[in-house]
Amino acid sequence: MKLSYPRRLSLARTPTPLQALERATARWGNGHRLWIKRDDLTGCTLSGNKVRKLEFITAHAIDEGYDTLITCGGLQSNHCRATAFAGAQLGLSVHLLLRGEAPAEADGNLLLDQLAGATVSCYPKHQYVAEIDALFQHWQQHYADLGRKALAVPTGGSDGIGAWGYIAACEELRADFAACGIQQAHIVTATGSGGTQCGLTLGAVLHGLPATVWGVNVCDDEQYFLDKVAADTADWRRRYPGVPAAETRTRVIDGYVGQGYGIASPQVFALIAELAALEGVVLDPVYTGKAFAGMLAEIAAGRFQGCRDIVFMHTGGIFGLFPQRAGLQNQ
Ligand SMILES: Cc1ncc(COP(=O)(O)O)c(C=O)c1O
Repeated sequence: MKLSYPRRLSLARTPTPLQALERATARWGNGHRLWIKRDDLTGCTLSGNKVRKLEFITAHAIDEGYDTLITCGGLQSNHCRATAFAGAQLGLSVHLLLRGEAPAEADGNLLLDQLAGATVSCYPKHQYVAEIDALFQHWQQHYADLGRKALAVPTGGSDGIGAWGYIAACEELRADFAACGIQQAHIVTATGSGGTQCGLTLGAVLHGLPATVWGVNVCDDEQYFLDKVAADTADWRRRYPGVPAAETRTRVIDGYVGQGYGIASPQVFALIAELAALEGVVLDPVYTGKAFAGMLAEIAAGRFQGCRDIVFMHTGGIFGLFPQRAGLQNQ
């Protein structure tokens, strides 16, 4: 289907490779072929899934005359780090509203946020949860009072604008499938704020990609993501009334959050170490490690039987590994 995309800036190194995981297939395939879409390679500091969304979000910001991006997330938010670097590359100011107390020493994504010159405001968790909307309004007004214009970018860049990032990625995947001889596949992605899953789910239908998209939730539960993807899809339709109709179904694989967002089990750390040594691919403990573990468990349980190919969407997140280095000890 010929889609009319809104303007986007070129920030991501795309197309990213779709790689066969031969040794992982031998170890865990259970009759399937395992592939990995290397969206961890969309860039070095501006890496991971958020870059695809930011190509559309930053174009929107510039076209609408914004000079500042305000966004939010956890202290180790990959989205915030990617926004900080997108801003630095484009000459936009970035203000990050982060959940949690500022640590004595910045590490991982937070260290990079600072290097990229972002303004960082940290809020205790209870305040962040209760007041995030008011905090966005407060800072937008602050910049307006200075004669500036600040765009509020939602958590994870997940809204109708950001959805385009993974709608477009499905066009890329269609070419990957043809090149790799994939006729039908299951695509498995980590889902945290729903935007990647929303874009992939819409994009697969809009581009006729022969794939079923599954999100492994790393926080909240199945219902939360069914609602969130529906809300982002509705926002996409509202913002772009000319887009074609698309019958979509959101599929969530629940049960792999473990003790909570950002807390990985020893098994997930062990899997991160195992895959790094087996295939030279590094996962992270917050998103991709849990999603990969969930995918392997579901392969073993037979969820994907009847379809040969399974594509894991590597959404990045490597910098979140460093502050959690203790979990890797003794692996
Ligand atoms: C590395 C990584 N993978 C996956 C996700 C989930 O993507 P989304 O927020 O679009 O659901 C995120 C962010 O939340 C992320 O940083």
